Amino acid sequence: MNYCAYLYPKREKEGYIRFMIERDRAVDAREIEKQKEYMRKMRDQNDAHFAESGTRRRAFVLTLGCQQNEADSERLMGMAVEMGYEPTDTPEETSLIMVNTCAIREHAEKRALSLVGQYKHVKAKNPELIIVICGCMVVQEHRLRDIKMRYPYVDILFGPSLIYKLPEHLWNRRCGSRRVFDPDDCEYRVAEGLPVRRESSYRAWVSVMYGCNNFCSYCIVPYVRGRERSRRREEVVAEFRSLVEAGYKDITLLGQNVNSYGKDSGFDYDFADLLAELDQIEGDYQIHFMTSHPKDATRKLIDVMADSKHVARHFHLPLQSGSDAILRAMNRKYDFQKYIGTLDYIRERMPDVTLTSDIIVGFPGETEEDFECTLAALRRARFDMIFSFQYSAREGTPAAKMDCQVPKEVVAERFERLLALQNEISYESNKKLEGKTLRVLCDGPSKNNPDTFSGRTEGGKIVLFEGESEDVGKFVDILIERADTFALSGKIIRK
Ligand code: 5AD
Ligand code: SF4
Repeated sequence: MNYCAYLYPKREKEGYIRFMIERDRAVDAREIEKQKEYMRKMRDQNDAHFAESGTRRRAFVLTLGCQQNEADSERLMGMAVEMGYEPTDTPEETSLIMVNTCAIREHAEKRALSLVGQYKHVKAKNPELIIVICGCMVVQEHRLRDIKMRYPYVDILFGPSLIYKLPEHLWNRRCGSRRVFDPDDCEYRVAEGLPVRRESSYRAWVSVMYGCNNFCSYCIVPYVRGRERSRRREEVVAEFRSLVEAGYKDITLLGQNVNSYGKDSGFDYDFADLLAELDQIEGDYQIHFMTSHPKDATRKLIDVMADSKHVARHFHLPLQSGSDAILRAMNRKYDFQKYIGTLDYIRERMPDVTLTSDIIVGFPGETEEDFECTLAALRRARFDMIFSFQYSAREGTPAAKMDCQVPKEVVAERFERLLALQNEISYESNKKLEGKTLRVLCDGPSKNNPDTFSGRTEGGKIVLFEGESEDVGKFVDILIERADTFALSGKIIRK
């Protein structure tokens, strides 16, 4: 089919031009100061409540979607704690509920709306409760309208690049202002200096850039997270260094396309340079990064990784489809040959690397032949693991307007075949690890079986073993005794 008419709609080009004109992306330091002033006022109020009642007001955050959202939620909770709230893991008996939403697939949006629906009862019992919805879902006009009309008990709503405004909105609402609706207005700036409350004491996220300029034709991200903007190198290095000094063992650099890091800054300093600089910092830790777009995964980056001391031998490189026709329609800007050339070079430089990928099944116009190209691609690429998704039409994207949507049952059947093949490949790749000793970062008792401990290899594979509480948050050596499709198991080799 001819996909050209669907690609490059006018709206995205206008946004891009506007962005190029407004190149200063840092949120003004005075604005951040103003938010800190609101945080102090909120803290005084919450402390007074504590003095009077003997109980602290509590805050709960629920995060849906990607690691960037996890990182954003750690900042939301950081601000809440600064404002005198006590974090809690349950939405009941809280004074503040924050739902950080995702828009990438319909399923994530439905989940967010259903959870918000449940909070109606929590609010009915506790009228003092303030409900905040933020994240990617709320930037879309139809969702914004929906929430305004159908969820009248939602107090505050703002988009993902306006999280720094939480204190101001909260204060105003507390003081009796009307409901607040502040979706992103295409400012899409970078806010530095916000407090953060990290979920873990040994795994951490560091955002290096926000937004995306790629406009893959199925993807909502560029519309809801705006254009690419990199954090300043000094800010990233300082945050990273402080994490290493605090004893963090696994630090993941985040961006929708980390390979574009620095392109918007006007300096001759790219993501490979950043990795090389961070790698110089002394300490016992590993660096992960995600996500890389195959069109810009350079040899320079792969060489830096291969020569580094701390960068984990793990490359996540989303292929999306093995059919060149579909890749073109997806606006991915590479074909399978280019992709596999990159993958082969990664393996040549790092033979023990773990390779993972994302695959979408059922993109509009995908024929049985196209799908078989994807299966053939999996056989050739031999990924250790894949994250596979059934295509979900996103309003406003070019792919959603394509008139050749694949029927749901066909997508579901292809999806099953994809999983079956990948499970075989994952099993074979795990089997090769039997008898080897791997360095594993210990996470503590496994969620599924609290009698065993769980950890992850540097490639992100789950390993089960008998551990002790002192092992949590530390690297341990595990002799792999058994491989399964989704996990490895073995025993600790104590020195
Ligand atoms: N439908 C299904 N999967 C999608 N992804 C992004 N947009 C969609 C969509 N509309 C997948 C891609 C991406 C991952 C984060 O989510 O595979 O790499
Ligand atoms: Fe979406 Fe493509 Fe950007 Fe990834 S690179 S966020 S899939 S538009």
